[in-house]
Amino acid sequence: MDPAIEWVTNGMPKSEDANLPVMSLDNVATARAFHGSFPQYAVTPLANLAGMAQDLGLGGLYVKDESYRFGLNAFKVLGGSFAMARYIAEETGRDVRETTFDYLTSDQLQRDFGHATFFTATDGNHGRGVAWAARRLGQKAVVHMPKGSTRTRFDNIAKEGAEVTIEELNYDDCVRLAAKEAGQTEHGVIVQDTAWEGYEKIPSWIMQGYGTMAAEAAEQLRQLEVNRPTHVFVQAGVGSLASAMVGYFANLFPSCPPRFVIMEARAADCLYRGALAADGDPRVVGGDLQTIMAGLACGEPNTIGWDILRNHADAFLSCPDWVAAKGMRMLAAPVKGDPAVTSGESGAVGMGAVAALMRDARYAELRDALGLGRDSQVLLFSTEGDTDPVRYRDVVWDGAWASK
Ligand SMILES: Cc1ncc(COP(=O)(O)O)c(C=O)c1O
Repeated sequence: MDPAIEWVTNGMPKSEDANLPVMSLDNVATARAFHGSFPQYAVTPLANLAGMAQDLGLGGLYVKDESYRFGLNAFKVLGGSFAMARYIAEETGRDVRETTFDYLTSDQLQRDFGHATFFTATDGNHGRGVAWAARRLGQKAVVHMPKGSTRTRFDNIAKEGAEVTIEELNYDDCVRLAAKEAGQTEHGVIVQDTAWEGYEKIPSWIMQGYGTMAAEAAEQLRQLEVNRPTHVFVQAGVGSLASAMVGYFANLFPSCPPRFVIMEARAADCLYRGALAADGDPRVVGGDLQTIMAGLACGEPNTIGWDILRNHADAFLSCPDWVAAKGMRMLAAPVKGDPAVTSGESGAVGMGAVAALMRDARYAELRDALGLGRDSQVLLFSTEGDTDPVRYRDVVWDGAWASK
């Protein structure tokens, strides 16, 4: 039998919730307007899996398909690009609303701002986004990847003209390396997708950038006459993405928020462990963090994100790798009539988890605690496509990480 999904409902004491305004509707609208200024911008599809919902006993199931984002196969560029724009706006004394794509790619930018080197650590997707944005802005990017990073992900970043290395370090130690090097470099800036004490501004801008995805999804649901999702499932590495989605929907529906379920890879389940300890303090997971969900292989929570999740999340799930693999196969071959979604390892864990909750008697208690059933309108985020095409085929075509 497969190792089970472990879960805990949120019984943590609440904080003052001082970080929720990071994801105010205004901040997210600004991010969305910024992304809208890119010639590559298009709203990514929201796959309406009506047949799958029916089959699983849900009212509706909707999957935001980020494999279409800017040709980069993942949502991450939304964060890095907006943070770089806000950083440049601050350095040049401009309003961020004026730092459009046209301005950022103009000769005027070089006169106003000059050249900086943007450092970051990444499992792949964030670094690719930073490298992509830096190249378009005529800036330099240096990217460090953790031990075990795959060649395709390395090549995709190198292709964008960034200086890339794969280190003998885990993700969290790569972050420390990037921060140190940025500190030692003239005009060096670290654009990291996680916050820690004393490093909060840039990660909060990154979270706002992710907000574009949430705002698009909310609008697409309304177009489908779903005014409010009843449940939002979102996966987490450091928790920037999850807290951004949770923060946006908590601000959008302040009196009646959806239920929020946070999913992590078993090997890097720091948020789950914090929720299990239930004292409100975050927990850290160390070691090699080996999981097929490379984007979720982060053992140290974003401090701002943790605070938002602590106050607003309903449940935390620690998911073995088979959950993601199952989700990938289900999204690749859904019920006849439903659109297929090419969803990578870190993108598909929500599908696998929802299927397990609805179909496996082991999770009946959690399903009931969350009130999941025929009246539920469930929103998932497929945050990446086949960013590692070899592994994608191993899983989807050849059945690797099959559930038993
Ligand atoms: C595809 C994908 N999904 C989800 C995440 C998780 O985001 P976060 O680290 O903000 O929790 C990542 C992070 O790199 C990712 O690449």
